[in-house]
Amino acid sequence: MYLKKIKKKVNCNDLIIVGDKSTKFKDIDATILKEFTHFLKGEKATDFLKFSDRIIFFVKKSKDSEKLRVAGFEARKVFDKELNQLMMVGDKDSSLLIAEGFALSNYQFVKYFKDATKRVNKLESIYLSDEVSDDSIKELNVLIESVFWARDMVNEPVSYLTATKFAQEIEKLGLSASIQVQILEKAKIESLKMGGLLAVNKGSIDPPTFTILEYKPKKASNKKPIVLVGKGVVYDTGGLSLKPTPGSMDCMKSDMGGAACVVGAIYAAAANKLDKHIIALIPSTDNRPGLNAYAPGDVITMFDGTTVEVLNTDAEGRMILADALSYSNKYDPELVIDAATLTGAALRAIGTHAACIMGNADKKVFSQLTSSGDNTHERVVQLPFWDDYLEDMKSNIADLKNIGGANAGMISAGKFLEHFVKAPYVHIDIAGPAWLDTPENYKGKSGTGYGVRLLFDFIKNYK
Ligand code: BES
Ligand code: ZN
Ligand code: ZN
Repeated sequence: MYLKKIKKKVNCNDLIIVGDKSTKFKDIDATILKEFTHFLKGEKATDFLKFSDRIIFFVKKSKDSEKLRVAGFEARKVFDKELNQLMMVGDKDSSLLIAEGFALSNYQFVKYFKDATKRVNKLESIYLSDEVSDDSIKELNVLIESVFWARDMVNEPVSYLTATKFAQEIEKLGLSASIQVQILEKAKIESLKMGGLLAVNKGSIDPPTFTILEYKPKKASNKKPIVLVGKGVVYDTGGLSLKPTPGSMDCMKSDMGGAACVVGAIYAAAANKLDKHIIALIPSTDNRPGLNAYAPGDVITMFDGTTVEVLNTDAEGRMILADALSYSNKYDPELVIDAATLTGAALRAIGTHAACIMGNADKKVFSQLTSSGDNTHERVVQLPFWDDYLEDMKSNIADLKNIGGANAGMISAGKFLEHFVKAPYVHIDIAGPAWLDTPENYKGKSGTGYGVRLLFDFIKNYK
């Protein structure tokens, strides 16, 4: 679906009108304008008129961006799936936000239905007024495409999306935005001695992958790269520490949500030609209890030589991320950020409405990330990151163990990861918002693509 700028008046029956008393409208007939003026005086934030051949949807201008995105979602519900094109008139900033909510609400994952083609929404274009800049329309189109890609990846079951397939999908997307992509296969991962990634992969019959993406514009404003790392567990059974099925293992195809978020963000940055040098690292495997599976009690030597006592094979995300984080050291990065569906503790602490962030980077980085969370409504909550929490991760027989105590599991996991990173570091635990069991406005249900818009906004505004 594309958002197009109106060059000339388009013959488009269906309309969304947004504004307030002071908005100047061109080309709307007097009866509709009268209805809109009447609507402005009422209590409702949105309303609509239904005729036999057209729908006119009204939205009040607002300073609250999220209200406007949700108005876009309300509008999508009113128009039916046969809607082919739509025109937006009135306040231009509000139009973009309504278009964002509308477009994100139009997402579908129907490929596995026998009658998939029949089910597909017909929407092709949303036309915006010619006062809206080409750049902002292009940026929004790229973002929507990136979020849809991330949602698709999260929604794909492991019967399709093995680590190898995921790496290929990443490569295809990356190359389409001229990002350099390198896929390390199992033999290379073995020769590099990525013990954490290989340990998690031992119970699987499918090989692991380690994908490296680099976007380096000619005139980057950062001398040293920003490295993004994403947890790419294409399916998490828990391994020998097997998860129960209902409400737990059944949604674990989403355990590569961090990787999807990071790849979506670097793609959006490259396709929008941001002036930042960015590298993304994606360690990927499934986590299964196959015959040779790693076992509680094992001691694993990681990529950087650290030894880890495995006490729960379901704490696999940190095992693969640790190797990717120590791999990041070779780039001497300015900042390292990882995104991961890492702990049930993060989900229990703040639910699905935000991600937990923590780390040792500058206060400025956290305040910028928080602002980006508010701008995009992909909100974040900062947690403490005192060294006391690392005590939980000390082992009797190795340098670290892979599980902590009963409390604050999302923080002890973050402290475990910090051990492997030399650069200033931020850890984003997206276990809550990456997946929704019940639908929520333009986020829909299942994979939300959480974090793509957040990280894009952060990178765009990062100085
Ligand atoms: N992938 C899960 C975390 C998760 C839970 C993501 C719920 C999304 C929703 C992760 O690998 C995991 O199993 N973590 C364990 C860690 C524990 C064994 C220390 C957890 O949080 O229970
Ligand atoms: Zn797990
Ligand atoms: Zn996991």
